[in-house]
Amino acid sequence: MTLVGLVGVGRIGAFHAATLNGLPGVEVVVADAQAGRAEALAGSLGARWAPDVGALLDQELSGLVVATPTGTHAELIDRGVAADTPVFCEKPVAETSARTLEIVKSVDKNGGRVQVGFQRRFDAGYAAARAEVAGGALGRIHTLRGQTCDPAPPPPGYIASSGGIFKDCSVHDFDAIRWVTGREVVSVYATGSARGAAFFAEAGDVDTAAALLRLDDDALATVTATRYHGAGYAVTLEVQGTLGSLGAGFDGQLPLRPVGDGVGTWPKGPAHSSFMSRFHEAYVRELRAFVDFAEGRAENPCSVGDALEALYIAEACDLSRAENRPVSLAEVRA
Ligand SMILES: NC(=O)c1ccc[n+]([C@@H]2O[C@H](COP(=O)([O-])OP(=O)(O)OC[C@H]3O[C@@H](n4cnc5c(N)ncnc54)[C@H](O)[C@@H]3O)[C@@H](O)[C@H]2O)c1
Repeated sequence: MTLVGLVGVGRIGAFHAATLNGLPGVEVVVADAQAGRAEALAGSLGARWAPDVGALLDQELSGLVVATPTGTHAELIDRGVAADTPVFCEKPVAETSARTLEIVKSVDKNGGRVQVGFQRRFDAGYAAARAEVAGGALGRIHTLRGQTCDPAPPPPGYIASSGGIFKDCSVHDFDAIRWVTGREVVSVYATGSARGAAFFAEAGDVDTAAALLRLDDDALATVTATRYHGAGYAVTLEVQGTLGSLGAGFDGQLPLRPVGDGVGTWPKGPAHSSFMSRFHEAYVRELRAFVDFAEGRAENPCSVGDALEALYIAEACDLSRAENRPVSLAEVRA
């Protein structure tokens, strides 16, 4: 039996705990700063709980899942690594690239095993895109288009501490573009607009954003995001090459309505409402992969170094938007 500890039973943590609880050969024990929450979740799952993180780490864990707010990730990663326990940490690892770089260095120095939660790597469409690109089926890749659209804005308090739309939303597209192409981003030009609720501008954020990325093989990518996509939750990646093109995320619940003669009816079902429905399967595969990684049966599918690279791209976009100019990644890389 693989014993996995999970800390932070909020929105994503409660879901991860239920997933782990359902994996064959896995037992989960949960903890939360609000112990009552951990106790209640454990009760509903028929799982175990610990009164605090110390008590959780005192157990002989095969893996530790960190699903607490971002500001607490660094310390919990350190504690897991110090206990020689493989860690799965939700993204982002930290709020800034400077702090993330410190974590990358300390994980490397201490031989830590840390997987980061970029779940699109486990989505069937994104994985097929990566395989086709690597296999050469599309020829030379010249254009990519990624998007992340939320149906409605989160609460003002969330926006104020989200790090901005590029770090909060587009960072997933940045990771996916690196992962699907195997290339690095060398420069960005980014812009945005805030025409919705006043709290976006008050937080220095935008509700709609676009970024143009140049990759190190001169392929070009556009990434867009919005908090006002009333049609539903939409996340896609299109890849075009000299021999073919493909699209990930164009399932029957993508809220994109073709118009014109003879285009048929689509979407076929109700639109995805949030990341939870769109990426349900990917989250399950992601934690299965973590258990395999923790047990030494598989390589780390997403390292803290990967998280740092995606964050550098987001920070380059922030700088580009602030100064209204193209920004080289070299400017933000330490
Ligand atoms: N990969 C994704 O798509 C995705 C989606 C949602 C959230 N996230 C990330 O997951 C993390 C958690 O987000 P959420 O929305 O589930 O948060 P949340 O606020 O809903 O839940 C956080 C939980 O952690 C507990 N907590 C806070 N500090 C703690 C501490 N020091 N020790 C133990 N427990 C503590 C809180 O009591 C709460 O129960 C964030 O980093 C977020 O960015 C990732």
